[in-house]
Amino acid sequence: MPFYYKLGEIPQKRHTQFRQPDGSLYAEQLVGTLGFSGVSSLLYHINPPTKISRIDEPVPFKPKVAEGIKLAPHHLRTLNLEVTGTDYLDARKTVMLNNDVDISICNPSEREMNYYYKNAASDEVVFVHDGSGDLLTQMGRIPFKPGDYLVIPRTVIHKFRFDEGQTRLLIIESHSPVETPRRYRNHFGQLLEHSPFCERDMRPPVELVTETEKGEYRVQIKKEGYLHQYYYEFSPFDAVGWDGYFFPYAFSIYDFEPITGRVHQPPPVHQTFEAHNFVICSFVPRLFDYHPLAIPAPYNHSNVDSDEVLYYVEGDFMSRKGVDRASFTVHPGGIPHGPHPGTVEASIGKKETHEYAVMIDTFKPLHLTEYAVDLMDKNYPMSWSEDHPTNGPRAADMMD
Ligand SMILES: [Fe+2]
Repeated sequence: MPFYYKLGEIPQKRHTQFRQPDGSLYAEQLVGTLGFSGVSSLLYHINPPTKISRIDEPVPFKPKVAEGIKLAPHHLRTLNLEVTGTDYLDARKTVMLNNDVDISICNPSEREMNYYYKNAASDEVVFVHDGSGDLLTQMGRIPFKPGDYLVIPRTVIHKFRFDEGQTRLLIIESHSPVETPRRYRNHFGQLLEHSPFCERDMRPPVELVTETEKGEYRVQIKKEGYLHQYYYEFSPFDAVGWDGYFFPYAFSIYDFEPITGRVHQPPPVHQTFEAHNFVICSFVPRLFDYHPLAIPAPYNHSNVDSDEVLYYVEGDFMSRKGVDRASFTVHPGGIPHGPHPGTVEASIGKKETHEYAVMIDTFKPLHLTEYAVDLMDKNYPMSWSEDHPTNGPRAADMMD
């Protein structure tokens, strides 16, 4: 995160004596990225974060890529999957991936996690489609609600506490740091005036969660296709304070301010985050193009370098044929795509859209998993043909 934040108690000067009420020293920990060149934070623990009591056998945790998938547009339906597993990790089902990113859904039935979780290799962006609760981290608690992107940098130990009701999460696992778009930041890292959001929209942890009891604390660490089973003598939530630029935060899709124009604006105006070889964009309600001869529907386009994934969140598309809430569409590079029959004319004169969607554009091909194959709408590739039974205006038509 390109701003400084602190929470709890920290010493006046870094790397100096900072003592607990009993006279012992707090254990200082630097969590830094990119060697010592990236953003970092300094945490002050009651107990050293190194006190491993045992390490059990690792559990394989790797999605299976489906073989023999045709190069074609795909539509995956997930709306009927109210539950995809028991706890947060059991329910995490990856639907597509490449060397840069894994994209998963996660609809757990359990409300509490009886373990802690750390992704040691990837940043995670958890988009909350349905559900609310608290993201508890070693850097503090972040309350969340529908529409929130929860950005959890790699190595931040955390657990979720979900409120009653449906939980529906979209998880984007990035194997490189997730950042705000560089073009929206000045030399100092501050978000510029033309950015569709600013620092006030970012919600860092509100309060520390400090657990002091000695015991057995299980941390599942995801790395290289395994969940490594670590047990510690003390809770990883034992910080009394921290400061720095490295921390988890929430950003709501409802705080994304759309950029509009007289003629159709290209997908980068919707960009919200970037990482190595992919971007995350937010489609939100906005006024349509206001040139007197404007065509609000997007033009056909060829994604020469990108696979384009849309995840449908809320909006008019629910009343349309084909695409549902919680559907994915995947348009692979090399195959042109565009509006469905009749949509271009139908869009003329429309003033606004009320749809929400999350888009992930990758610069390397994505691979569907075996889990995704069962969710595929086999007729989708032909849905642009004039006599296809499901043709007609769709959300996809208005969302590039
Ligand atoms: Fe597109």
